[in-house]
Amino acid sequence: MKGLLSPTFFLQITLFLLIFLLVVNKSQGSPISTEVDELPPAFPPSTQPQPFIPLIAPSPLRPFTNNSVPKLSGLCSLNFSAAQDIMTTTATDCWTSFAPYLANVVCCPQFDAMLVTLIGQSSKYSGVLALNATHASHCLSDVQKVLVSQGASENLKEICSVHPRNLTEASCPVVSVDEFESVVDTSRLLTACRKIDPVNECCDQVCQNVIHYAARKIALNDLSTSDGNHSMPGPKARINDCKNIVVRWLASKLDPSTANSVFRGLSNCNLNKVCPLDFPSVSSVVKECGHLIHNQTACCKAIKSYVSYLQEQSFVTNLQALKCAASLGKKLQSANVSKDVYSLCHISLKDFSLQVGLQESGCLLPSLPSNAVFDGTSGIGFICDLNDNIVAPWPTSSYLLSSSCNRTTKLPSLPTATSSQNGLFINTLVLPLLFTSILLPKRLL
Ligand SMILES: *[C@@H]1O[C@H](CO)[C@@H](O)[C@H](O)[C@H]1NC(C)=O
Ligand SMILES: *[C@@H]1O[C@H](CO)[C@@H](O)[C@H](O)[C@H]1NC(C)=O
Ligand SMILES: *[C@@H]1O[C@H](CO)[C@@H](O)[C@H](O)[C@H]1NC(C)=O
Ligand SMILES: *[C@@H]1O[C@H](CO)[C@@H](O)[C@H](O)[C@H]1NC(C)=O
Ligand SMILES: *[C@@H]1O[C@H](CO)[C@@H](O)[C@H](O)[C@H]1NC(C)=O
Ligand SMILES: *[C@@H]1O[C@H](CO)[C@@H](O)[C@H](O)[C@H]1NC(C)=O
Ligand SMILES: *[C@@H]1O[C@H](CO)[C@@H](O)[C@H](O)[C@H]1NC(C)=O
Ligand SMILES: *[C@@H]1O[C@H](CO)[C@@H](O)[C@H](O)[C@H]1NC(C)=O
Repeated sequence: MKGLLSPTFFLQITLFLLIFLLVVNKSQGSPISTEVDELPPAFPPSTQPQPFIPLIAPSPLRPFTNNSVPKLSGLCSLNFSAAQDIMTTTATDCWTSFAPYLANVVCCPQFDAMLVTLIGQSSKYSGVLALNATHASHCLSDVQKVLVSQGASENLKEICSVHPRNLTEASCPVVSVDEFESVVDTSRLLTACRKIDPVNECCDQVCQNVIHYAARKIALNDLSTSDGNHSMPGPKARINDCKNIVVRWLASKLDPSTANSVFRGLSNCNLNKVCPLDFPSVSSVVKECGHLIHNQTACCKAIKSYVSYLQEQSFVTNLQALKCAASLGKKLQSANVSKDVYSLCHISLKDFSLQVGLQESGCLLPSLPSNAVFDGTSGIGFICDLNDNIVAPWPTSSYLLSSSCNRTTKLPSLPTATSSQNGLFINTLVLPLLFTSILLPKRLL
């Protein structure tokens, strides 16, 4: 991608890192600030929608220079010290300027897992698996303050669409631990979910099925027909709300970090099922690439420009990128683009993710994305794959993506799996600390 984004992105990150180093390492002040002043102006305004400025504004540094204890409401009964490490992890995963771009894959799943774990842990003392409405709003606001004080985005509630109601029982009729344990087969629940295999769970759904079963059971608890009658369609919303109660109970029985990784494993199953990107109208591509392609250069220009718009949206996992390639391909096919424009124009899987670096390489996250890490001297990093260049698969009738749990089907020409236990998930973990001061200036300066 002739990424208008990438150089800007890169420069801005470097700028940010330089300032960061300046702040952290005050003694080196003046020479660095000179370099900052001499950086080329931001990328000229162009035909592209303006993308990355908000991503790198240096103001996000503030949290790291201000470690003051946030002023909390005093009205939240959650025991933050029971999940301190998880909160720190969440703050890093949802780190100010990156939060919107990691929201779907890392930040929000971690934020959700943290909230569940916090409430679950607190239920050991409170005896209830939900907060009431008043407490819910104080707690959500306090949690947010704690996270912000550790570097997280101030808009987490909005980015992850979490409302105080998400901390309550919502429409689930069972709230107390005692009642829960009298209704649910808790040993079955613990056995299935105490430990999950993050790869196999997504296909076998061992833990997920038991959670669903338990949620259904408590959701229908006050209807005398609750005994697992699967032909009776339960009120979907209520069962969903009860799933929250079930996982909170689980969180009370596991140690916080185990609980957190179980919940992250479960959410990975869902996030890899769909492409999180929005696809705008493909008319510009259809115009150049539809029917017979008259001018290949123009067609490729159109598809590349289209894809570069997608690149502004989010980091995606490798499995998500597959879904995205399939979705866009189908959209194009149904608009009469019949030629495989991906291979014609060298559109690769990585072109569906945010682009980083001067080499304009897309950063695909592994299918089981790891947490971001913060390193005082290097900045924020997360693992992504900068090396593989897999041409995006053009959807064909013989190639169905839904088969990724089918062990007899090999996904076509994908990055080789490094995960030894299972070849279905593609874990090419290459570059920890992607956004490091070491990496960036070397390439840039
Ligand atoms: C630190 O942050 C708090 C709350 O965000 C603010 O009230 C305080 O003035 C800040 N302190 C410094 C030294 O910036
Ligand atoms: C909060 O959690 C910590 C760590 O789990 C525990 O030691 C402490 O007793 C709890 N405090 C309250 C008030 O429940
Ligand atoms: C919410 O719960 C707390 C105790 O957990 C209680 O003190 C408070 O009165 C409750 N508020 C409402 C509105 O029920
Ligand atoms: C919070 O609740 C709303 C509806 O009540 C729902 O749409 C949203 O997905 C929930 N958020 C989370 C993180 O569960
Ligand atoms: C299950 O529910 C359906 C619909 O409510 C009902 O027709 C059926 O008899 C029930 N089956 C059992 C075993 O209770
Ligand atoms: C093909 O399109 C390119 C870019 O739009 C243009 O520069 C070139 O002149 C076109 N070639 C032909 C043969 O029309
Ligand atoms: C696709 O082409 C067919 C036949 O050429 C035409 O009837 C149809 O309207 C076209 N569809 C779109 C979405 O352009
Ligand atoms: C798995 O894939 C093979 C080969 O593509 C196919 O024959 C088989 O029916 C698939 N099995 C399932 C359960 O989808």
